[in-house]
Amino acid sequence: MCGIVGYAGKDRAAPVLLDGLQKLEYRGYDSAGVAVFEGNSLRIVKKKGRVKELEGARSLCGRVGIGHTRWATHGAPSEKNAHPHAYKQFALVHNGIIENADALREECLARGETFLSETDSEVVVHLIAACYAGDFGAAVRAAAKRLKGSYALAVLCSDFPDTVLCARQSSPLVVGKGRGGLFVASDLPAIAGEGVEVFALADGEFATLRGEEISFFDGEGKPVPPHAVAYRFREDVPEKRGYAHFMKKEMSEIPAVMAKNAAAFLESPAFSSFRRALLGAERIQIVACGTAYHAGLCAAHAFEKLCRVPCEANIASEYRYRDPIVPPNTLCLAVSQSGETADTLAAAQIAKERGAYLAAVTNVAYSSLTRLADAVLQTEAGREVAVAATKSFNAQLMLLYGVAAYLAREKGRKAPPLGAMAKAARLALSAAEEVRGWTAHFLAAKSVFFVGRGADYFTALEGSLKLKEITYLPSEGYPAGELKHGALALIEENTPVVAVVTQKGLAEKTMNAVHEAYARGAKIFAVTDLPEVAACKEAFASVLLPPCPEEYSPAVAVIVLQALAYYVSVARGNDPDKPRNLAKSVTVE
Ligand code: M6R
Repeated sequence: MCGIVGYAGKDRAAPVLLDGLQKLEYRGYDSAGVAVFEGNSLRIVKKKGRVKELEGARSLCGRVGIGHTRWATHGAPSEKNAHPHAYKQFALVHNGIIENADALREECLARGETFLSETDSEVVVHLIAACYAGDFGAAVRAAAKRLKGSYALAVLCSDFPDTVLCARQSSPLVVGKGRGGLFVASDLPAIAGEGVEVFALADGEFATLRGEEISFFDGEGKPVPPHAVAYRFREDVPEKRGYAHFMKKEMSEIPAVMAKNAAAFLESPAFSSFRRALLGAERIQIVACGTAYHAGLCAAHAFEKLCRVPCEANIASEYRYRDPIVPPNTLCLAVSQSGETADTLAAAQIAKERGAYLAAVTNVAYSSLTRLADAVLQTEAGREVAVAATKSFNAQLMLLYGVAAYLAREKGRKAPPLGAMAKAARLALSAAEEVRGWTAHFLAAKSVFFVGRGADYFTALEGSLKLKEITYLPSEGYPAGELKHGALALIEENTPVVAVVTQKGLAEKTMNAVHEAYARGAKIFAVTDLPEVAACKEAFASVLLPPCPEEYSPAVAVIVLQALAYYVSVARGNDPDKPRNLAKSVTVE
């Protein structure tokens, strides 16, 4: 994670760096810092906390600099662990994880060097200094050869105060040229602008930003051609539009987003190639993390039910290390809002190397995942700012349900139409306001359970993740039938149990678990489209959902659980948009 930026140009660097860091803050907000040349000397300003803490650095005058917003991996969130890290004539910012940092640190300590931070990144600046004999580029390349792990680096050297040197291995990095300057950043939105040409660095490549040119090199210092990134510039300044938080605003967009995404895959430029792979698929493997994984679980359920094609959803961080079997005619769907999640990228890469056709389901057109995939099925959710995914989940579901319904029909099977889903979402959104009245029962809960069966279980998992993420309450998503095998021991008087009940054939079975929990003192909150469940005597409170095909019900039911997490978070005095310890895009393992 972490976001890095750099600038070399005609304007003052500090405002460019600070504006870029603001746009990258979704990658981490534990600390932030900048380093700017003032003449030949480096001015470094770092602060614990958010980028806004750096405002005092805006007046720095230099025209070359680097900046960083941190999500802590090695070392606590603190000023001393904030980047840039400096040693001798060098300063750098780093995103990634250096896996052999301890061994390299030992070498430095043996030379008598001392460290100011607990970070793996500070080791890199020491290593560059140790490799330096007057050639800046050669020193960075030599140091990079010794690093194990992932890195995107932007480095300054006071012997070359007009230059920013960049390196990339398994962490995203783009460079740009235009508007009188040269830029580098972890992600395109931080440098995109009218007239700015953008280029992506490939793994193992280096770039030098100097004067009016960017030069690209391989690990031996040989020039390599640039990889231009085509993008359409849209001034995309996220605004809350009167909502107290981005999360609430993003939830309000769900019905419109759902309407857009049911047929979104048909618009893919690679549709005919994807269609061939889809129709020929003997199995589907989905790889994803977090909320996207939950979308994968829902989709796998729909693919099997509607199309009778074997489909499994995999947690990407597990898939990548389990030596996965990828038989011929496997379609791999990599689902990722950001398209930058390191584990999802690695899992997708493995599936592709082992012969799968790789389709990316992502919200970000120019992401690393889109570059890796054979086909891109873009979700049209618009920019999502809140760390807790909401509308992007509904967009993923609708796109994937659309694909499943299409495949079912191509196979001569029936699939319910998706046309009425947006209306159901609109009704669910207003029904969800009822949960404001539930918050008091959750505020101090020792643990919260979300239970369901079939597709409802996946909704329960996502509801539980949302609650954990932004309220910090311990919670579990549980298959209703499993409660009695252990978790029931945790139920006490007034333990909140949220029962999701939309699968008619399984409703009675889910209710068995509800009875068992109720009998042990649980307070039952029902989220259901079945009036008899909503009115049952066990339910302390319920939200009655609008009817929708049960294959697709997670896209509607989840709205109530998103709202519940939001209102409990606000009632606990948290910032639901920026939960502690989390970042929007998880670009480290
Ligand atoms: O960008 P991605 O969809 O690949 O991100 C995956 C997860 O990190 C993400 O869904 C995370 O779980 C969200 N914060 C959940 O709200």
